[in-house]
Amino acid sequence: MVSYKELGLVNSRELFKKAIAGKYAIPAFNFNNMEQMQAIVQACVETKSPVILQVSSGARKYANQTLLRYMAQGATEYAKELGCEVPIVLHLDHGDSFELCKSCIEYGFSSVMIDGSALPYDQNVELAAKVVDYAHKYDVTVEGELGVLAGIEDEVSHETHSYTRPEEVEDFVKKTGVDSLAISIGTSHGAFKFKPEQCTRNAEGKLVPPPLRFDILQEVEKRIPGFPIVLHGASSVPQQYVDIINEYGGKLEAAVGIPEEQLRKAAESAVCKINIDSDGRLAMTAAVREVFAKKPAEFDPRKYLGPARDELKKLYMHKINNVLGSAGRI
Ligand code: G3H
Ligand code: 13P
Ligand code: ZN
Repeated sequence: MVSYKELGLVNSRELFKKAIAGKYAIPAFNFNNMEQMQAIVQACVETKSPVILQVSSGARKYANQTLLRYMAQGATEYAKELGCEVPIVLHLDHGDSFELCKSCIEYGFSSVMIDGSALPYDQNVELAAKVVDYAHKYDVTVEGELGVLAGIEDEVSHETHSYTRPEEVEDFVKKTGVDSLAISIGTSHGAFKFKPEQCTRNAEGKLVPPPLRFDILQEVEKRIPGFPIVLHGASSVPQQYVDIINEYGGKLEAAVGIPEEQLRKAAESAVCKINIDSDGRLAMTAAVREVFAKKPAEFDPRKYLGPARDELKKLYMHKINNVLGSAGRI
């Protein structure tokens, strides 16, 4: 067992308190490999933003649990070396069992999500309470979820949303003791959140999807005032990346994500953690494809992973500065 404190990590409690008071959100960026981790740390050091390094169960299998522990420790040391000790949380994204959450805590995670959102309500409560009971012994924070997002996570996919029922949140938070709550208000996982035919065009001709259900968010906030709320599925699917990918041999269907103005509005509320993964995947893929197309003789991985890392860092800095508002909040 290694404590996250020995790795130089923090849990999310204080970060969320400050984020709610300061009306911004902490970025939760998923990572699976060294280049993604470097881009996240570089972007957060340059913007002086706290950050949640987020690992899905698929990412944990991909990267290896032991390597991840040292990568997280490396991230804290790397930030110091770059000149700014930004607070870093290592968080399990969409944990689906008590055993997985327990194992992550034993390997140095400072925060875990137990996602029982697809279970019947009582089972979701029971599972989340069991994880909280264990995690809090080690001062590890826990995120629960109520409501199901549409889209794909790992092998699990949900065709439609089932929005969070505000009348359940107070009871859930009280019975489970979770430290934060992910809710479903119209975001969804993956790059293909909305098809163009589900959208309308604004004055500039840009496709705009149906707005997020801010009425549900407000109702949730009314029932659990000041409680940290989490937004999953918050990628915006930047059109320039989709265009570059398709220009250089990719085959992505038309897709529309969550408009950044809506995320900015959410970040000013009790939403204090915003999850972004797909936009980073698009940024890296666009950069790699461009190198492959323009320099077909290149075969040194550093020559395409390097530009991918740079593009990713640019994207994260943009999110921190212009969407989440977490720059300078350390
Ligand atoms: O919410 C899901 C995240 O984007 C992680 O995706 O399970 O493919 O690693 P993954
Ligand atoms: P996106 O697929 O919209 O990036 O969402 C990521 C996420 O919610 C990770 O938990
Ligand atoms: Zn998610």
